[in-house]
Amino acid sequence: MKISFVGAGRVGSTTAFSVLMKALADEIVIIDINRDLAQGEALDLFHATSFVKKMKVYSDDYEGLDGSEVVIVSAGMAQKKGETRLELTEKNVRIITDISQNISKYAPKSVILNLTNPVDVLAHVTWKVTEFPFKKVIGSGTVLDTVRLRTLIAANCDVSPMSVHIYIIGEHGDSELAVWSGAMIGGVPISHFCKLCEKKTCNGMLEKFFEKTKNAAYEIISKKGSTNYAIAAAASDIVKSIVKNEKRVLTVSTLVDDVYVGYPAIIGKNGVERIVNIKLSDDENQKFEKSKQILKEYVRLSSI
Ligand code: NAI
Repeated sequence: MKISFVGAGRVGSTTAFSVLMKALADEIVIIDINRDLAQGEALDLFHATSFVKKMKVYSDDYEGLDGSEVVIVSAGMAQKKGETRLELTEKNVRIITDISQNISKYAPKSVILNLTNPVDVLAHVTWKVTEFPFKKVIGSGTVLDTVRLRTLIAANCDVSPMSVHIYIIGEHGDSELAVWSGAMIGGVPISHFCKLCEKKTCNGMLEKFFEKTKNAAYEIISKKGSTNYAIAAAASDIVKSIVKNEKRVLTVSTLVDDVYVGYPAIIGKNGVERIVNIKLSDDENQKFEKSKQILKEYVRLSSI
């Protein structure tokens, strides 16, 4: 299994480390416009393989993509303090277009996972430029947002995050929405779970947890300049579902009504195996439509 990374910055290198530690690859290639950085990260990662398994890890130019089964893209500009993800569009479209052309050329059979923001718009651009089947181009979408919300609810309700079931869908950004109508804890609708709970700590808190989730990146970036660990864990989880053909349902960015947007999909060896249509309340449906409209407008402005 050959997995390549285009972008060796904070997100790319941490995701590569997470993929490596999960033993998902036999060969890892690191590519970055900053060759010294790519070389340094590759060498550092290679030394970590002694604790996992025999693995090749090296840096290369785009030719190194040859034979990659999965390519993870995190190259480009990151949000600065107070900047929205959508404000990065203009800066990153050109970079992602160039990278996509190289992936088409050297790794035409790969599944591409885009992490660069705005993740939905740039996954859409990648799909258009590569002309790959849409199922083989995925954005990390709202996988990270979904786990962020699950961890907050889980901590409040003193239950494992694995037993909290709720999705965030829509733009990975300000117009995303939580699908409260389908939220469950341990198979019990969340409203019922809260009614029976003696702690009574979540009265009115659920919506606050969502707001905190939506603003998490702004908060973390204002304190440490970037986010990397949780996105790396989320991205390597998506990669795991691909390479092990786990068929997990994850809220990746995929093509829904002609635009890439965070939505539940079954993820396996072919990328998106199937989109899982979920039932939304009228209010959720309206918010989802609005989120898609915003993304469509950004895609249109990217003139792809
Ligand atoms: P960074 O600045 O640390 O790394 C970006 C890397 O891209 C740099 O090493 C740079 O040399 C490289 N690069 C720039 N242009 C390139 C090109 N044309 N070809 C190859 N490499 C190129 O940024 P960081 O923190 O790693 O973030 C990367 C991206 O990931 C940003 O767009 C950020 O907003 C996004 N991100 C996405 C998340 C998600 O949930 N999808 C979460 C966190 C960040």
